Amino acid sequence: MEKLVSNWSNIQSVPENYIFPPETRPGEDLKVPFSHSIPIIDLNDRTNTTQQIIKAAREFGFFQVINHGIPLNEMKETMSVFKQVFQMPDEYKHSSYLDDDLKTCKIFTSSLRYETEKVHLWRDSLRHPSHPLEQWQHLWPQNPITYRECVGNFSVKIKDLGSRILDLISEGLDLKCGYFDNDLTGSMIISVNHYPPCPKPSLTLGLPKHKDPYLITILMQDGVSGLQVLKDATWVAVEPLPHAFVINIGHLLEIISKGKLISAEHRAVTNSSHTRTSAAFFIAPSDDCLIEPAQDISDENDHPILKSFKYKEFLKEFFNAHGDTDLLLKSLEAPKN
Ligand code: OGA
Ligand code: NI
Repeated sequence: MEKLVSNWSNIQSVPENYIFPPETRPGEDLKVPFSHSIPIIDLNDRTNTTQQIIKAAREFGFFQVINHGIPLNEMKETMSVFKQVFQMPDEYKHSSYLDDDLKTCKIFTSSLRYETEKVHLWRDSLRHPSHPLEQWQHLWPQNPITYRECVGNFSVKIKDLGSRILDLISEGLDLKCGYFDNDLTGSMIISVNHYPPCPKPSLTLGLPKHKDPYLITILMQDGVSGLQVLKDATWVAVEPLPHAFVINIGHLLEIISKGKLISAEHRAVTNSSHTRTSAAFFIAPSDDCLIEPAQDISDENDHPILKSFKYKEFLKEFFNAHGDTDLLLKSLEAPKN
């Protein structure tokens, strides 16, 4: 059983197996400034929301939404419940903490590949599915006692917000109404990241550079910064805004849109003074859903032509590719005739 980073007491230096090699550690880029060009989109302003979302998704693959209709107090309450999970006694955390891939609700440290990864991540994570709610809610943590009710109500609202954003995206891409409103969005996964303070943040990472292998991610931050996005080969920081959600385009939406929308690489850095918690809600297909590039979107010259594949198949290739996007796309390319 590996020890959760949040259970370490008073750590003064970074253990060797948490130090990233110079080419992937944050180093000088630890404190890059907040990007003022990542769009902040007001969902109440219906005049040109669709165009703004498409522009942001084309240029950055990232944007923030405000006036999304989810009350600030519900965001704060849910964030507080998530934080409490990581403050629970060790015995409780360890009883839910299994390295078993089949366990639906898990608390683990670093990544699900702890045994084989070269360098460990400076984070603990709580992860479980949340849609359809009836299927999963009874498997969630029972402590804190408000967890199931609070997170359940909140995740229904997040799922609705995800549908609203995907509706706007399908409109902006000229896809038929309700394009994503089927088993393409048949599941949602909640992944709560907990990054304790780290004595040498320039050497470590909470999450290494990656793209999310889903449709879109809705991320709630707790006010502590740490999220960075790769824009034109430069790392920029995403400012945590109190009443906003960060939206990023996942790998699958890039594939479905034939590269019209981009899935940007991003990572999470740590800091030496504050614990940071973030909650990612991944909007994802059902396991057996067939994914294919949208026929109504024209081919782009620089985007490979991909075959249809099952979501489950995609996830396998995604994890096998270890973050190498070219390798992943090669494995999904349509046979040439
Ligand atoms: C993720 C992710 C960023 C963060 O969970 O996939 O990118 O700021 N999280 O925690
Ligand atoms: Ni991510």
